[in-house]
Amino acid sequence: MFDTCCDTYSRSRFDMIRSDSTELKTESHTMVARNKSGNVEPLARVQTKRLALNEAAIESARHSLDQGAVTPHYGPWREDVIQLHNDSLATELVCVLRYKRHHFTAAGLASPKIAEEFLVHANAEAAHGDRLAQRIVQLGGEPDFSPDTLTRRSHAAYDESQELKAMLKANLVAERVAIEAYSQMIALIGDKDSTTRRLLEDILADEQEHAEELKDWLAD
Ligand SMILES: [Fe+2]
Ligand SMILES: [Fe+2]
Repeated sequence: MFDTCCDTYSRSRFDMIRSDSTELKTESHTMVARNKSGNVEPLARVQTKRLALNEAAIESARHSLDQGAVTPHYGPWREDVIQLHNDSLATELVCVLRYKRHHFTAAGLASPKIAEEFLVHANAEAAHGDRLAQRIVQLGGEPDFSPDTLTRRSHAAYDESQELKAMLKANLVAERVAIEAYSQMIALIGDKDSTTRRLLEDILADEQEHAEELKDWLAD
């Protein structure tokens, strides 16, 4: 037994066998303590994990070529990620329709400049939708462009307001809904899929910019 006041410290196996071999360096560390007789004895061995690739998964990646970019590392959440993307694709498409409607109907109102900006936003949302659809295909899914279910699947609403301020408000609500949805998606994806995460972060930054613009125009 060791006295509780005895000194305990870690000594690497490399230190102990340095003159014999360097192969074992950093592979293990032995906790040692000095007992009452003053002798140093081992307490426990701490294995240091090495960084190594999963060779079986790499071998598996040589097969299932029909899965394209999806390899064994992707994990079991592929279908969930595709579903989340399709919901966001529906949101983007509804946003395109709402902004287009506002662009054409606001053209004769007090601020033609804002009507032009609605078109800029519509084009940005269309580009977001394209990027989401492309990622869905890369993940082995099918992008859902079905108009029959679009508004039901979309996070944001369509809007037919007649007055400019009401349009701005409806668009700001939609942008805030999109920001919340993309933020949650990014948190859900975490480090599971870095390509998707970068895509969503790009889109989120655009939506935040849109929301800021709408807030400023509403305040004018
Ligand atoms: Fe968007
Ligand atoms: Fe947006």
